[in-house]
Amino acid sequence: MKIILASSNQGKLRELKAWMEDFEVYAFSEVMSPFEIVEDGKSFKENALIKGRAVYKALDDENAIVMSDDSGISVNALEHTPGIYSARYAGVGATSQENLDKLIQTLKEKNIKKTPAYYTAAIGIVCQKGEFCVHGWMYGDVIDEKRGDRGFGYDPMFVPLGYERTLGELDESVKKELSHRSRALGLAKILLKTLKD
Ligand code: IMP
Repeated sequence: MKIILASSNQGKLRELKAWMEDFEVYAFSEVMSPFEIVEDGKSFKENALIKGRAVYKALDDENAIVMSDDSGISVNALEHTPGIYSARYAGVGATSQENLDKLIQTLKEKNIKKTPAYYTAAIGIVCQKGEFCVHGWMYGDVIDEKRGDRGFGYDPMFVPLGYERTLGELDESVKKELSHRSRALGLAKILLKTLKD
């Protein structure tokens, strides 16, 4: 089954491709000229479906199956922010590094060294049979410094529940086992099987 991923985030693409080795997976930039998608939804689900719908429409192929991912980190003590604004926490066009630095700076300003946080992933699937969305979560803590360089985005400051080290330090197999994205992907794979029949 051929799946087109409606994302240009290199970290996400790497994980989605590596964790879907049983499917034929392409980034949408591999099959068409990439274009900007305005993510103005009010939830991870709305944004995932906005991206999936935009790429499905642009492909103009009724047999296409488009998969999208909208995700982010929420810090309980910061009123569950940045949440859906994780990609632009330090401003529109901010790099992952700038967003990570801003979250560390916010924690430092509040004298918080370690506090509960969670990642959310909404995976959208848009195809001829309709529009679908599944979610996954990963719980843990954020700390006021970065440790390690594995993963991407906020991973160097995120310590998963039951671990002492950050996702930046832990082996990638831990993220594959536990992450918001891999959990949502597990459900998405079941959905894809039912869509095939
Ligand atoms: P989106 O592309 O609009 O969904 O933005 C996702 C934002 O959340 C980006 O800033 C990512 O760096 C961050 N994010 C999402 N998933 C992860 C993850 O698995 N690890 C680290 N950061 C993530």
